[in-house]
Amino acid sequence: MEIKYSGPVCEFEVAGPCGIVIFGASGDLTRRKLLPALFELYKRGRIPSRFFITGVARSGLTVESFRQVVADSIEEVSEKASARKKEEFLEHCFYVSGQYDAPETYKNLKEVNKKLSQEFKTESNIIFNIATPPTLYGTIVKNLSLAGLIIKGQNNNPFQRVIVEKPFGRDIDSAVALNEELISWLDEDQTYRIDHYLGKDTVQNILAFRFANLIFENVWNRNFIDHVQITVSEELGVGHRAGYFDNSGLVRDMLQNHMLQLLSLVAMEPPAKFDAELIRDEKVKVMKSIRPFKDISSPSTIIRGQYKEGSNKEEKIKAYRDEDGVSSNSSTETFVATRLFIDNVRWEGVPFYMRAGKALKEKKTQITIVFKEVPHSMFVKDIKENPLEPNVLIFGIQPEQGVFLKYQAKAPGSKMCLYPLDMDINYADVYGSELSDDYETLLLDCMVGDQTLFWSKKGVEVSWDLITPILKEWDKSSFEDKKIKLFFYEAGSWGPVESEEFIKNDGRKWIIK
Ligand code: BG6
Repeated sequence: MEIKYSGPVCEFEVAGPCGIVIFGASGDLTRRKLLPALFELYKRGRIPSRFFITGVARSGLTVESFRQVVADSIEEVSEKASARKKEEFLEHCFYVSGQYDAPETYKNLKEVNKKLSQEFKTESNIIFNIATPPTLYGTIVKNLSLAGLIIKGQNNNPFQRVIVEKPFGRDIDSAVALNEELISWLDEDQTYRIDHYLGKDTVQNILAFRFANLIFENVWNRNFIDHVQITVSEELGVGHRAGYFDNSGLVRDMLQNHMLQLLSLVAMEPPAKFDAELIRDEKVKVMKSIRPFKDISSPSTIIRGQYKEGSNKEEKIKAYRDEDGVSSNSSTETFVATRLFIDNVRWEGVPFYMRAGKALKEKKTQITIVFKEVPHSMFVKDIKENPLEPNVLIFGIQPEQGVFLKYQAKAPGSKMCLYPLDMDINYADVYGSELSDDYETLLLDCMVGDQTLFWSKKGVEVSWDLITPILKEWDKSSFEDKKIKLFFYEAGSWGPVESEEFIKNDGRKWIIK
């Protein structure tokens, strides 16, 4: 379908002046995501010239060598930028080296920030982006506070905000403890817990689609929807992140956060206003209504899988257990499939099937809404014998971004025959390069003080509450004692065959467009 977009591009005008301090400045996330996003924002004039970036890390870099790290990180996104723009950006980048638990580091940082704040006239507005391993979040925030770099409640003139990356805790107890630690130094409105899925344009579009179009919202319930599927499949194995991943697993890495966020956007009630607090509250409400898991050790509740050797496209993928940093008898799951129910009036009895995995056939994030079959049709004799394929609505989150609707139409010819057709709207074709990157959106939102797309304290805790029983049960029973099965799958496939059986036993099948 050829649709070209000619409307406005909606962005915050420009963020106000501020400094950004990145902890974990020589790390992977900073290089892959944060620095390129900040450069993009700068290039497009979304952050003002009154800004600076201070990298903080243990590596003994100089300002010059840090600027080289920045230059390398932005190489790809800066290809189309002028050399002058790149130079200008690099001139805003600085570095402080030190241990994260040493008061000396914060003393130095304070002096550097004070000087830079005057030089770049940032009016002392500051964001601390903590992109370190999660065990350091508490230490860093505490030291920032003790050094007077953060004052609890200081969120305006000037503002002091903290962004923490995921994972936020590793179970309910650690998440609550981390929240307690943060709120002893920060107010909730100074705390920005990132889930980069929420920064994706296509994810935010779910709300627009549901709540700005009367025709869909009216059928968005148990009377019309048979079930919902959420698939987040990745083509790559865990690679160099194996060490982290083996201590985490797919449920902690994807289900507790990104997937529950997607589910809550599909299932939440509309708040009265588009307001950060109201939206976040609605998401909490829906997550609280998810029926707790029962009988976790049964494969009819949740399937956990792990990839064996295989290949994807032309590349060989080694078995998960052969990855560096993974033990040869690891029972960490690289795949999960489960079914959730939401016990409220809108969704009672509608299953939400969730599956995610590493080293699968292709990278795809899709939300599929399968409508009920028509109860009667004038076109077929016996609808039970000859059911019409139901309507299917798919939100393509990535790599294809768009909305796809399958509906029945008359096939050409003199006879009345039905054949399903696809209405396919691809956002990349419609919006072109205007779709923004997740980290760009989230960093800009933090600069302008909009928390809509960040996890709230309650949200984090409710999601861990739901997920922790699975983790506890799995921890009790290692793979070796075989109480809970670990199903192996070939890398490059769609996961264990048992996950196909899992949904088939309910009379349904996984749908991928
Ligand atoms: C991260 C997970 O949060 O999301 C990674 O830790 C995963 O394991 C990544 O690969 C997926 O993000 P995206 O945006 O590429 O789908």
